[in-house]
Amino acid sequence: MDLVDKTEGASGGFELVRLKNGEPSVRCLTHHETMHVGTGPVTEAAALHVCQQRIVERARARTGGPMVIWDVGLGPAGNAIATLEALRGVDAAVELHSFEVATDVLEFALCHSGELGYMAGWEEALRGLLQTGEARPLPNVRWVLHRGDYAVRMADAPPPEAIYHDPYSPARNPGMWSLEVFRAARERVGEGVCLLTNYTRSTAVRVTLALAGWYVGLGVATGEKEQTTIAASRPGMLALPLGRDWLRRVRASTNAAPQRGARYERGPVSDADFEMLTALPQFAG
Ligand SMILES: C[S@@+](CC[C@H](N)C(=O)[O-])C[C@H]1O[C@@H](n2cnc3c(N)ncnc32)[C@H](O)[C@@H]1O
Repeated sequence: MDLVDKTEGASGGFELVRLKNGEPSVRCLTHHETMHVGTGPVTEAAALHVCQQRIVERARARTGGPMVIWDVGLGPAGNAIATLEALRGVDAAVELHSFEVATDVLEFALCHSGELGYMAGWEEALRGLLQTGEARPLPNVRWVLHRGDYAVRMADAPPPEAIYHDPYSPARNPGMWSLEVFRAARERVGEGVCLLTNYTRSTAVRVTLALAGWYVGLGVATGEKEQTTIAASRPGMLALPLGRDWLRRVRASTNAAPQRGARYERGPVSDADFEMLTALPQFAG
C-alpha cells in the first residue's frame, strides 16, 4: 500500500492508504489497522451491513416509527455513508445512531474527503454531526452521534433493529467484543427483532455472541474473506445458522474461549462454557 498522507491526532494518528484494489482508505497508526481492508469503505459496508441486513426492505416494511440502526464505531463513516446512499430517495424513516469514542479519525477523513471520494456530498451533514451531535442528511433520516464508550452510551439510544458492529479487531479492541458488551446490546433489544453484522469469522467471537444470547450464523463473504458473522435476536432470522457440527470445531479449537472483560486472552473453551453453549436453544435441539 502506498502512503498518501499522515497526521497525528488525539488517538495517535492516521494515514491515508491505497488498498490492493486501488481504493483509498484510512489506517490507524496506533492500532495498526486499516479500515475496510478488503474492498474499500463503501463497497465493504454495503455488502457486509446494508445489503446483508436488507436495511432498505426492512425500513420500508416497518410500521409505527422509524427503523433504528446502531452504527458501532463510526470511524471515518464508511458504514454510515453506505447506509445513507442506500436510503436516498427511499420512502421510509430511519434513525441512525452512531457510536464513537474518538472522532479524530472522522475529522481526519473529512480533511481528506477529496482523496477518499466516498464522502462527496455528505460533508455538510458530517460537519453538523460533529458540531451538534445530530444531523438530518436526508429528509427521511435522523442521524445522532453518541460520543464516548459504546458500553456506556448504548443506554441512551433507542433499541436497535440493526447493529453494525465495527470496532477494531478483538486483539486490539477486546472490550468491544466481550460477553458483557454483546449481552448488554442483546438486553437492549429485548423482545425486538435485531440483526448484528460484523467482519470477523473468529470462533471465539461466535462463542461469545452465542453465550451473550444471540443466535449466530455465517455471514456473507467480503473481499478476501470467504465468510463473516451475522447474529440475530430470534431464531429463524438467519440463512446459515451455525449447527451442532460447529460445536465440534469449538471443542477442537485452541482459541474458542469467550472474551470476558477488556483483557485479551486466547485459549480453548472451558468445560463449563462448552456445557452452556451446547445447552443453548440454537444447539440443544
Ligand atoms: C474499524 S473503525 C470503524 C470504521 C467505521 N465503522 C467505518 O465504516 O468507516 C473502529 C472505530 O471504533 C471506535 N471505537 C473503538 N472502541 C470504541 C468504544 N469503546 N466505543 C465507541 N467507539 C469505539 C474507534 O475509535 C474507531 O473509530
